[in-house]
Amino acid sequence: MSRKKKVEESTEEEELALPEKAEEMVNDLTESIEENLEDSVDDEEVEDTKELEELSKEDKVVNDETDIANLPGVGEKTGQKLKAAGYVDMMALAAASPLELTEAAALGEATAAKIIQGARSKLTLGYETAAVVMERRKNIKRISTGSAQLDDLLGGGVETQAVTEMHGAFGSGKSQVGFQLAVNVQKPVDEGGLGGGCLFIDTEDTFRPERIIQLAEANGMDPQKVLENIVVARAYNSDHQTILADKSPEVIKKNNIKLIVVDSLMAMFRSDFVGRGTLSSRQQKLNRHLKKLKRLSDIYNVAVYITNQVMSNPAILFGDPTRPIGGHILGHFSTFRVYLRKSKGENRIARMVDSPNLPEKDCLFRVCPEGVRDVE
Ligand SMILES: Nc1ncnc2c1ncn2[C@@H]1O[C@H](COP(=O)(O)OP(=O)(O)O)[C@@H](O)[C@H]1O
Ligand SMILES: [Mg+2]
Repeated sequence: MSRKKKVEESTEEEELALPEKAEEMVNDLTESIEENLEDSVDDEEVEDTKELEELSKEDKVVNDETDIANLPGVGEKTGQKLKAAGYVDMMALAAASPLELTEAAALGEATAAKIIQGARSKLTLGYETAAVVMERRKNIKRISTGSAQLDDLLGGGVETQAVTEMHGAFGSGKSQVGFQLAVNVQKPVDEGGLGGGCLFIDTEDTFRPERIIQLAEANGMDPQKVLENIVVARAYNSDHQTILADKSPEVIKKNNIKLIVVDSLMAMFRSDFVGRGTLSSRQQKLNRHLKKLKRLSDIYNVAVYITNQVMSNPAILFGDPTRPIGGHILGHFSTFRVYLRKSKGENRIARMVDSPNLPEKDCLFRVCPEGVRDVE
């Protein structure tokens, strides 16, 4: 079997096996929580201070073991490589695929698999880590778009632990929604925010701090503070874009990031692979990138908002010319897909075209100087 074929097959397999894998992880974590719950009941009975001291010493050992460099098969050098590639903690490693690690740190597949296994078993050691993961699942939060109508269409706003995709023609408001979310995520929870920062991956060079200032002022927020809470990364090509996402865990933790915007998802993939007849290698890379974004959303409980330009190629006589580019892979990883269209003046029409739990329906909203608003 050729190397290429092998790679393709394993990606396919993984894609299919994803829900099963997730179930397996949840089962593992549930088991470990139950075990640890028993432990913590025992803890309560311990009154002797000496024994408590012993326990806290044990805690320290467990903490040391959270360093990925201590995993069997890793070591200092590989540890550094993995960390540099964004695998900064056990959780990130446990959720990785062997293929990803072989690429990230030049490892053999067997070693990679061993490291992942190791990371998974370590996770079961830490009550906190497992509990945090379980908590996270109950912890889905929503960011307001600025329009109650659009929020309603989305089931209450843009969700964490999910990928929300908006596609539409040039000027339909995809980036404006991204800017507004980057501002709104910083508001307190009772005002429709998450009290966190935004990581903005800009692939079209259309990020405008001036516009952010305008939106912040319209919301009575300190523009300087708002700007400081948005980490902008300009992606120069599809590989760079992928690396930016891969390396983001550190940025996410350091800056309390609650929203990742990729505006636009496909522009680089489209231009990098033009006329090369390498659609399958593009799809493979895109697949990896999207899977990463979805995982980031789950692991760090952040919302991921991606934009996508629809094909406006008049040469397409058959099929729907308003279909977003990216093919079935994008559909597989986006939790919510919304189609945006221009209407009269400031008005925009949004349609929920794909969602696991929301009806397919339309709504109106506005893009005005103050940002995204309801139509009065
Ligand atoms: N400062 C502003 N004041 C009012 N409307 C604006 C402002 N900036 C952008 N817009 C509106 O947003 C549109 C661009 O939307 P945008 O989200 O950038 O499109 P795309 O879907 O291509 O990303 C403009 O055509 C305009 O209608
Ligand atoms: Mg745009």
